[in-house]
Amino acid sequence: MSKRVAIIGAGPSGMAQLRAFESARKKGAEIPEIVCYEKQDDWGGQWNFSWRTGTDKYGEPVHSSMYRNLWSNAPKEALEFAEYTFDQHFGRPISSYPPRAVLWDYINGRAQKSDVKKYVRFATVVRWVEFDDTTQQFSVTVEDLQTGQTTTEQFDHVIIGSGHFTTPNVPDFAGIETFPGYIVHAHDFRGAEELAGKDVLLIGSSYSAEDIGVQAFKMGVNSITFSYRTAPMGFKWPENMEELPLLERFEGSTAHFTNGESRKFDAVILCTGYLHHYPFLPSELALDSPNNVYPDGLYRGVVSEQNNGLFYLGAQDQWFTFNMFDAQAWFVRDIILGTIELPDAEQQRAHIDKWLEDFRQLETGEDEIYFQARYVRDLIEQTDYPMFDLMAVAEIFVSWEADKKDHILHYRDRVYRSVMTGTMATEHHTPWLRELDDSLERYLSEPERDEIENMLAPEGSQTATR
Ligand SMILES: Cc1cc2nc3c(=O)[nH]c(=O)nc-3n(C[C@H](O)[C@H](O)[C@H](O)COP(=O)(O)OP(=O)(O)OC[C@H]3O[C@@H](n4cnc5c(N)ncnc54)[C@H](O)[C@@H]3O)c2cc1C
Ligand SMILES: NC(=O)c1ccc[n+]([C@@H]2O[C@H](COP(=O)([O-])OP(=O)(O)OC[C@H]3O[C@@H](n4cnc5c(N)ncnc54)[C@H](OP(=O)(O)O)[C@@H]3O)[C@@H](O)[C@H]2O)c1
Repeated sequence: MSKRVAIIGAGPSGMAQLRAFESARKKGAEIPEIVCYEKQDDWGGQWNFSWRTGTDKYGEPVHSSMYRNLWSNAPKEALEFAEYTFDQHFGRPISSYPPRAVLWDYINGRAQKSDVKKYVRFATVVRWVEFDDTTQQFSVTVEDLQTGQTTTEQFDHVIIGSGHFTTPNVPDFAGIETFPGYIVHAHDFRGAEELAGKDVLLIGSSYSAEDIGVQAFKMGVNSITFSYRTAPMGFKWPENMEELPLLERFEGSTAHFTNGESRKFDAVILCTGYLHHYPFLPSELALDSPNNVYPDGLYRGVVSEQNNGLFYLGAQDQWFTFNMFDAQAWFVRDIILGTIELPDAEQQRAHIDKWLEDFRQLETGEDEIYFQARYVRDLIEQTDYPMFDLMAVAEIFVSWEADKKDHILHYRDRVYRSVMTGTMATEHHTPWLRELDDSLERYLSEPERDEIENMLAPEGSQTATR
């Protein structure tokens, strides 16, 4: 009887896994029976935007943490699939920082082309996974959210692709209960329009803080104060944006900071990151890690050390995203197909320890980028996924970091050359700061010249064209 494989989640990671198996099947391999469970009605994971917050229409926690006007925060040339390029998908060069809908279209396009939707059971949430030592099988219990029916099926392997940027990390702050304004975690932030004219406190100093801050600037916030725990982001902020050390306490709408300063605010956004949270797994199988580039307990970053039949995709903090998920998915596929053999437990531990040792030496973001590039290359070397110049992609990330240091409000107007095709990206027709329409249609449109000139005219001198 053929093996059975369960994939939990049809986000970019789960979709990469489906594509990996399909690619082997097309080359003549006999592939296992695959069932991919996805709790939402569509695939795309985080990229499948929802206006809802809290719970979805089935009463399940809303998955996506994305918001209106979210554009790629790194050049698309750094996340491009090696075997399905942007040129192939769009048929012409596009800019380096597309909005969410355009990236969803890209991942959807590749998956549609390989006809893998048939493996996905949508609106089906995984409730519980158990491993039986005697049968060496996993029992996966799921609920069909449309019928309410619960069923359990047996699998030889389980692949976790449920993401780890959904369950908010929500620290408490003294007196926060007395704050009279709007308080929200970044997970529930859906757009900065309502922040216009307000004084806003963003707690955290990573990507969510940075991007929600610049979104708020774009939408006309009065002021932004970032509060950092470890280190400031250190960008050259415009005059109405500043960084202060950690918030100490609130007294009504006044926040006091550890350096003795205080400010009044209208709104607070907790940009304090996310928890690895696997409510469908018993503790011995659930990954327990902070958000970092080499979570302990995963051989080659994907195989659960506790149970070699269980795999995690995308569990790392992510510089590399879509192409890293591909590298992982191809590697996991080949373990399942038996073309890659796993070493014994002791050798796995020694391998993890060696990478953890390297990981502990990393000091800067740039170190992490090269580390993750080496990690992705190590995986690709073992499969038939097309090898690409990982160091060239790492250089794109490094250059992107420099662009942000150069100008945090304009870095998204820069363009990069594809490592996969050599194609140079084109400039988007409208500077990011002025572009208020994040739809695919607008992005791919060619606005009239006078509209663009109007966009570029100094503030206040434009005439309404749309
Ligand atoms: C706000 C935000 C912005 C980001 N911006 C970028 C960016 O600009 N560029 C970039 O490259 N990356 C970005 N990322 C990183 C993003 O995490 C990855 O691009 C990618 O979405 C990760 O894919 P994934 O499949 O591992 O997880 P996810 O995208 O999180 O998908 C997981 C899937 O699993 C499903 N699922 C979860 N639990 C269950 C269950 N119990 N049963 C069934 N299904 C389940 C979910 O519904 C979801 O579809 C961003 C992340 C966030 C939070
Ligand atoms: N496309 C986009 O524009 C976009 C926008 C938003 C997010 N993202 C993606 O979303 C993912 C998650 O990013 P993230 O910024 O939400 O999470 P993150 O990178 O894990 O950062 C979490 C931040 O919260 C801070 N923090 C945690 N606990 C705290 C506490 N108790 N008090 C004060 N600060 C605390 C951390 O501070 P320390 O440094 O002290 O640990 C850190 O600055 C990333 O992959 C990112 O690329 C992308």
